[in-house]
Amino acid sequence: MIDTSGVALHKRGYRPAAGVAPLRETLAAAMVKLSRPRDEVLLWDPFCGSGTIAIEAAMMMTGTAPGLGRNFAAEEFYDIPEKIWKDAREEAESFRRSTDFEVYASDIDPHMVDLARANIKRADMGAHIKCFERDATQIVKADRRATIVCNPPYGERLSDMREVETLYRAMGRCFSRLAPWQIYILTSVPDFERLYGRRADKVRTLYNGMIKCGYFQYFKNKNI
Ligand SMILES: C[S@@+](CC[C@H](N)C(=O)[O-])C[C@H]1O[C@@H](n2cnc3c(N)ncnc32)[C@H](O)[C@@H]1O
Repeated sequence: MIDTSGVALHKRGYRPAAGVAPLRETLAAAMVKLSRPRDEVLLWDPFCGSGTIAIEAAMMMTGTAPGLGRNFAAEEFYDIPEKIWKDAREEAESFRRSTDFEVYASDIDPHMVDLARANIKRADMGAHIKCFERDATQIVKADRRATIVCNPPYGERLSDMREVETLYRAMGRCFSRLAPWQIYILTSVPDFERLYGRRADKVRTLYNGMIKCGYFQYFKNKNI
């Protein structure tokens, strides 16, 4: 067996420092894709942590290949001419596209905002992502179309669970005021919909590492 990748393929090279519970880049990309991002629709992650969802969204919409910012073990193999790598990088560059696509990445924790900003800079996605401090339950609707894609805390310990329940209830109240914005939420809490106060239009099972999660999709979000 020969390892041609080196560092695991899901790593893009923009996240040397991650937050407390970072998403795998590939899972964040899948969440973004399932939310069907469009150039003219703002994408907002209000629990951005290290900024993974926001960065993956911006990379996807700008046609930035996931491996463009990293190296591969096979680049050291003596029998693969350097030109092949150069051509592959040039080909990947040719897929880049210009777009007005805009992402907001916010978090209640100023340290996470700093961390996300550093990762956004490293990924060279600063032109598309605005990163700021904000309580996700205090979001006010902007006068434009938007989609929320997020991964709020799950409450691993029992003591955290009470806080998480309060948070999910507040999210339900706040996010319903954002209608008709679409909302996509990943959590491992099984009775999320009861706490949030609304049944999702669709729930997909996704795994965050070993943790079984529901991806709760509200695409017919309306005021309640
Ligand atoms: C599971 S982590 C998100 C991880 C992120 N997806 C990543 O890949 O790094 C949850 C984040 O929610 C933030 N958070 C908790 N309560 C919040 C609130 N009320 N408003 C905004 N952010 C909050 C935490 O600071 C933490 O960064």
